[in-house]
This record gives sequence, C-alpha cells and structure tokens, in this order.
Amino acid sequence: MSDAVPGSDSVVTTDAALATAGVDSYLACEVKQQPTWPDPVALKRATDRLKQVPPLVFAGEADVLREHLAAAGRGEAFVLQGGDCAEIFSEATADRIRNKIKTILQMAVVLTYGASTPVIKMGRMAGQYAKPRSSDTETRDGVTLPAYRGDIVNSFAFTEESRTPNPDRLLDAYHVSASTLNLIRAFTQGGFADLRSVHAWNKGFSANPAYAKYEQMASEIDRAVRFMAAAGGDFDALKTVELFSSHEALLLDYERALTRLDSRSGLPYDCSAHFLWIGERTRELDGAHVEFLSKVHNPIGVKLGPTATPADALALAHRLNPENIAGRLTFVARMGAGNVRDALPPLVEAVRDAGVAVTWLTDPMHGNTFTSDSGYKTRRFDVILDEVTGFFEVHRAAGTVPGGLHVELTGDDVTEVMGGTEEIDDNGLAFRYETKVDPRLNHQQSLEMAFLVAELLTKK
Ligand code: PEP
Ligand code: CO
Repeated sequence: MSDAVPGSDSVVTTDAALATAGVDSYLACEVKQQPTWPDPVALKRATDRLKQVPPLVFAGEADVLREHLAAAGRGEAFVLQGGDCAEIFSEATADRIRNKIKTILQMAVVLTYGASTPVIKMGRMAGQYAKPRSSDTETRDGVTLPAYRGDIVNSFAFTEESRTPNPDRLLDAYHVSASTLNLIRAFTQGGFADLRSVHAWNKGFSANPAYAKYEQMASEIDRAVRFMAAAGGDFDALKTVELFSSHEALLLDYERALTRLDSRSGLPYDCSAHFLWIGERTRELDGAHVEFLSKVHNPIGVKLGPTATPADALALAHRLNPENIAGRLTFVARMGAGNVRDALPPLVEAVRDAGVAVTWLTDPMHGNTFTSDSGYKTRRFDVILDEVTGFFEVHRAAGTVPGGLHVELTGDDVTEVMGGTEEIDDNGLAFRYETKVDPRLNHQQSLEMAFLVAELLTKK
C-alpha cells in the first residue's frame, strides 16, 4: 500500500510524539465555538478511541492536493469546492451522496470547458459536521437548550436529550465520514465519473427549454467531447477523477484526535480530510484554530469576511505559511455582493504586493444570507452570481488570479435559494426546504451557476 500511495503507511503516532511535533500548542490559546461537553470522561474515551482508528486520508494525498492548489493559484487550474453547509448523519445515504458527487462532476465538466484548465474538485463532504453558532443556546417558547452545533456534537430536535453534547457523536462522525469517503472513492475511480457519461447527464439538463440560453456552450462542449472520442481519446484521465474531501476544522477535540505523523517525513497531518479551513468566526491570529492548523501540513484555507484588513490577511499568511509554500494557503473571500468590489481589492493587492503565495476562492454564499418575508433563511441566486462576478472583476483589475469557487449545494431538488431559471420565489421556499443550517443551491441551480461561471472564465 505504501508503494501505491505515498504516506499511507503509518508510523506509530503517540500523544508524546505529536506533542513533540508541536501540535498541542493550541491548548494554551483561547478557543471559540466549542461545545460544553457535560461528561469529560466520555469525551476522553471517544478521543482516545479516535487516536487509534485508521486515518481517513493519507498525507501523500494531501500533498497532491497542495500541488493542485498551487497550480490554481497560478491560474493553471480552477477549484470547485462544494457541498452541504452541514452534513447530516441520517442523510449520508447512497442516493444523496451519489447525487452530490454527480452535481459536482457535472459542474466540473462545464467549468473545465470555461477555464480551459483542469478543475480541482473538493467536496464539503465526509466530515462537514461541526457548525459555528452565534449563540451557545437557543430559546423557544421560554425553553432554553444548547444550540445545535452540528451532528458531530448534538442533534437538531429541540429536546434536552438531543441537544446535550454527546461525545459518542465524534465516533459516529468518523464512521459516517469513512463510509461517505468510501463511496466517493468508488464512484470516482470505478467508471461512474467517466467524462463521456458526465457530459451525457449535462445534455439532459440543457435540453430543457428553460435553459436554452446555455445551449451554445453545451453544444460546444458536446463537440469537444465528440472530437476527443473520434480522435481515439480513451485514456485514464477520462475515466477517473480526483475528488478531495474538506471541512471546516472547527471541533478541535476531533481534529487533534485524527492527527497523525506522516511515515515519510515525520510531519503531522490532520487525517480527517485532505483540506481543512478556518471559519470567519474563528480566524483570530492568536486563537486556537489558527494555532492548531499552523502545525499540520495539509493544505488549509481561511475564510475572510468584509471586516478583514490587509494587515489581518498578511499576518495570517505569515503565521499559517511562514515558508510561503504555494498551495499551502487558500483564502476564501465571503464578502457579500454589496461589499466585494470595495472590501476585496485592498486584501488582494496587499497579498500581491507582499509576494505572498495564496490561492483565492470566492464563497458567494455566506455574505448573502437573509430571512425571507415568509421566515426562511435564504439567499438569492442573482445576488450570489453578482458576488462571483465582482470577485472576477477585482482579480482582473489587480492582475491576480481568481482561483476558484466555494459553494453550498446539494444534488437534490430542494427549494432553499430564491431565483434561478426555475424562479423559486418566497412562496416556493416552503415546497422543499430541508437544510438544518444554511440554504443550498439545488441541482439545477448548481448547474446553472456552473454555466454562468464558465462564461466569466471564458471572458478572461
Ligand atoms: C460555512 O462555510 O458554513 C461557514 C460557517 O462560513 P463562514 O465561516 O464563512 O461564516
Ligand atoms: Co454555511
């Protein structure tokens, strides 16, 4: 196995060895957004067990992703990162996982054409179970209970039993991640992801008269795929794809327990996912999240919202990537459509002028959330697209690289985001609103987004 996948054999990773490698320094820092575990003994039992289980990903795979992200930072590839706001254990079914993978692959085909470069595919999948919350508690009808912090901590039902943080859920998160990744690996390596089939699925989408505006690009892609087939193109790159896993590294008990030393280099990697990011609410320079991720060698990201300053961006880059290794650090800008054209340029220019290696992604979802008149937490499709457009404009003006797209999506036909060609309106949200946290693009809206972003990419 170690010959096939570098870094897949384990050296013995002990607490002492990890402490020597420096990964416990975060324990001395202020830590935000953690649950209050009622039973420390049960927590230790769970994390001790997690320290024994096999890694979910291998250091060698994370290294490959770092190289791909470096290419995206140079404009030689484009990143597509997508998936649920919060994955739910009970929804980790074969059908739903397949639909999500299918959606990401369909989008990737369209974007590959638009960017004329490889598309690096990352799921917010197989570990996206921990959510930051604005309050530690939630009150309904005079009853106050702990806030829902994601399936890795507690469950959504508003009862004392389900909302009490339960460390057994850390183990559940590991096992559900493992089964999700198993399916991802099978689907992406086993023929399901063949470019020619994925393209055929897209033809079904664009045949719908409502999507006639995408017909030209769809038929251009069709010609390109047919040309390749006629020219005898039948190489492995057509038949398999790489789909990397990623999630917000929020719950540090879990991330620390899945950290292992790489057998080749002896360096620590967080083996819960290929790529980990720090959220907008936990990106303090001296906070525990930044400290922890500064010590693992995965490629990592930081979300930057409209209050981030150029000094913040440069200080984060210095702390998280002191050796300025390309692909190590991704900034995910989530400014809001109304802010992106003003708030992003100073950050992009400061990073450019300092010669700091950063891959820039746009998250056009998290700065554009509002509550509709009927009371649903939602976003508007055209506003999401406007933030993406602004992101491209800013990079084109600064002479820097718009490296990719980070979106919340599902492969199912939910009604959570308003607009799109299907014109979901406020009344339509109730039809199939399923998310427990943030509203996601549905399958059609995701493909539509891909066509529109492909257009932005072809305009370069
Ligand atoms: C998220 O990605 O679901 C999230 C909470 O984002 P942010 O940290 O940007 O608010
Ligand atoms: Co979200």
